[in-house]
Amino acid sequence: MSARDAWKSKLGFILAAVGSAVGLGNIWKFPYIVGKNGGSAFIFIYLACIILAGIPILIAEIYIGKKSQLNPVGAFRFFQKGKFPFSIIGYIGVFCGIIILSYYSVITGWICHYLMLSFRGFSGTETEIKEIFTTMNATPWINIAWHTFVMGTIMLILVKGVRQGIEAVSKILMPMLGLLLFVLVCYSLTLDGMKEAWHFLTYPDFSKISGGSILEALGTSFFTLSLGMGAMITYGSYLKGDVSITKSAVQIASIDTLIAFLAGIVIFPIVFSNNLEPSAGPGLIFQTLPVLFAKMPGGHIVSVIFFSLVLFAAITSAISLLEVAVSFIIDEFKCSRIKAILIMGTVIWLLGILSAVSSWNVAGTPFLDLFDKIASCYMLPLGGLCTALVFGWAITTESKYKEIGTSAVTKTLLFAAKYVSPILLLVVFLKEIGLF
Ligand code: PFF
Repeated sequence: MSARDAWKSKLGFILAAVGSAVGLGNIWKFPYIVGKNGGSAFIFIYLACIILAGIPILIAEIYIGKKSQLNPVGAFRFFQKGKFPFSIIGYIGVFCGIIILSYYSVITGWICHYLMLSFRGFSGTETEIKEIFTTMNATPWINIAWHTFVMGTIMLILVKGVRQGIEAVSKILMPMLGLLLFVLVCYSLTLDGMKEAWHFLTYPDFSKISGGSILEALGTSFFTLSLGMGAMITYGSYLKGDVSITKSAVQIASIDTLIAFLAGIVIFPIVFSNNLEPSAGPGLIFQTLPVLFAKMPGGHIVSVIFFSLVLFAAITSAISLLEVAVSFIIDEFKCSRIKAILIMGTVIWLLGILSAVSSWNVAGTPFLDLFDKIASCYMLPLGGLCTALVFGWAITTESKYKEIGTSAVTKTLLFAAKYVSPILLLVVFLKEIGLF
């Protein structure tokens, strides 16, 4: 067996991990969920979830990967204690990654389609522009063609390996994403709706918050940080030497949160400047924004920048999803990288067809929505809970101190990982499955 792949530099690891974290969750999901839940009160809860559960579990995942130098299944087996086979947690993670990527690739395909359309420019009446989405979604071959393109692209990137594939692509796409986002934030600052958007994002209205919002905030914070399914374990397993895990986790979570917030700063002023409601739901970037791009000055170029940015974010997340499954096959079946990519890429591509054909459903729920619900509402919190329990209770405090350090911040976060995160996740999980 050849030696395990490793990151070339610390910066490469941070950019790849940020690339995994920053994705559709930040730019597509976060703004519409904030919109739906009434704005900034939801953001406060979301921030609390990031601090109390997100960062501690991010530390746990990076630690588990770095220490074991294995894929999620092997990594949990490495920390085995007692009778319950810890590797099951890894299997759930790999399975969850496969499910998420199957529909994530379809949505990334929609972004590609919209990017192409934005090169031409959006025009027509509001109904006509909104219909673009409905027509695309109802035309299986368009969805399948783009899904195939996205899967093919990420498979090709992964063939190049960890350094020349994931790390190299992240080092190019992440700074470009930062630059494009900066340009769009500057543009939004000039719009009339900025004042209203700022108010919406920073003045909390707690009357809009329900039990459901808290569940949604926790689910979204896990999804956006790529937690609960082994992605950060896999990326952590390519880390070697002296890297501060706490510092890396705080940096990754801060950049991810900042980008989600900036995505809100870009989107809401556009929405408010046109007297529209921010609570449009999942159609916010596919239906509401294009209508506005067609009307506003400079809308053509803004739409090209916007959809390029979302595409960069989605691609770097999708490669991390595929890498989890690929590293599992390589480690567990002693298979070559190319073979592992072909096997998992094909399986996920096939599964994705279920989401690409939007008329296929289970009791009226399209597969895409069903998979998203199963993965983000049940499997990620469950995976996070198991990770926190293994990290908090099956690994000695001394070995954690030795690897992670003993600063006050680290100790507080380790305390949160042991007590606060599992309780929070347990409550959310039981509530989600209706036992509470
Ligand atoms: N964090 C990604 C996003 O916010 O879009 C989604 C994701 C990527 C989830 C990778 C899980 C994962 F392993």
